[in-house]
Amino acid sequence: MERNDPCWCGSGQKWKKCHYPIVHADPDSLAKRYRKDFNIVLKTPAQIEGIYRACQVTAKILDQLCLHAKAGVTTLELEELSRKLHREAGATPAPLGYGEPPYPKTICTSLNEVICHGIPDTRPLQEGDILNIDVSCIVNGFFGDCSRMVAIGPVTAEKQLVMDVSRECLARAIAVCKPGIPMNTIAQAIEDFARSMKCSVVNQFVGHGIGLAFHEPPEVPHHYNDIRIPMAPGMVFTIEPMINAGVREGVIDPHDKWTVRTKDGRPSAQWEHTIVITETGCKVLTELKQ
Ligand code: MF3
Ligand code: CO
Repeated sequence: MERNDPCWCGSGQKWKKCHYPIVHADPDSLAKRYRKDFNIVLKTPAQIEGIYRACQVTAKILDQLCLHAKAGVTTLELEELSRKLHREAGATPAPLGYGEPPYPKTICTSLNEVICHGIPDTRPLQEGDILNIDVSCIVNGFFGDCSRMVAIGPVTAEKQLVMDVSRECLARAIAVCKPGIPMNTIAQAIEDFARSMKCSVVNQFVGHGIGLAFHEPPEVPHHYNDIRIPMAPGMVFTIEPMINAGVREGVIDPHDKWTVRTKDGRPSAQWEHTIVITETGCKVLTELKQ
């Protein structure tokens, strides 16, 4: 964007007279501006350090759970392991008791046609299943959130496709993140690639700011949208594209009020990371440091 172009915020003013200073301001005034204009908290270096620690614990728990996801194991057994791993790490599971009705478990386990928010139960994993495990935890008051897919043995081409496409969508979205880039560039990267692979992008659930709370502004949609807030150093948010083989629409289970299944019963997959915008680009906080 040039200084004399209309501002990205839609005010009709020139950029230089409107939001131009936003990526050039000193950290204090930038933080004030983001709080006032968007209700977004830019995190301080000390807060980012705390969030990074929480994210590393979250990623470690997810890693352990994925290693145990094998044919014959129930998702309830993964839930029990999750409780033990949280306890040992001194971490509080953010999903437990979250929302209305209160979410009943510490992790989400979303199988096959389940888009998200699957509740661990007594069904043993079977060859041919695809499973998303989503872990969100609180460590010393800071929040981390990530999820991954696991294939149980060989899976159909359609299931493999959504697993691969959702992973690539997340990678492409992370690759565009740096200061000054409009937030909707994330969705552009995701939906362009998903469509090119004949998949659809879920629009009923979004990524989110995170760090000092589980869900903070801004919303981070994965589908085409008009949110042109520029990324700024200290923004911490998740990107968690849910990609379907068939239609994008999901249906919430009327009994448990949580499990979201594709309307057409075709498979869905999701990968999630928590990232922070840095001075020069971004850092993936939930990438496990060995
Ligand atoms: N990553 C998911 C989210 O951000 C985790 C959901 S946990 C639940 O919403 F408790 F809301 F189910
Ligand atoms: Co999330």
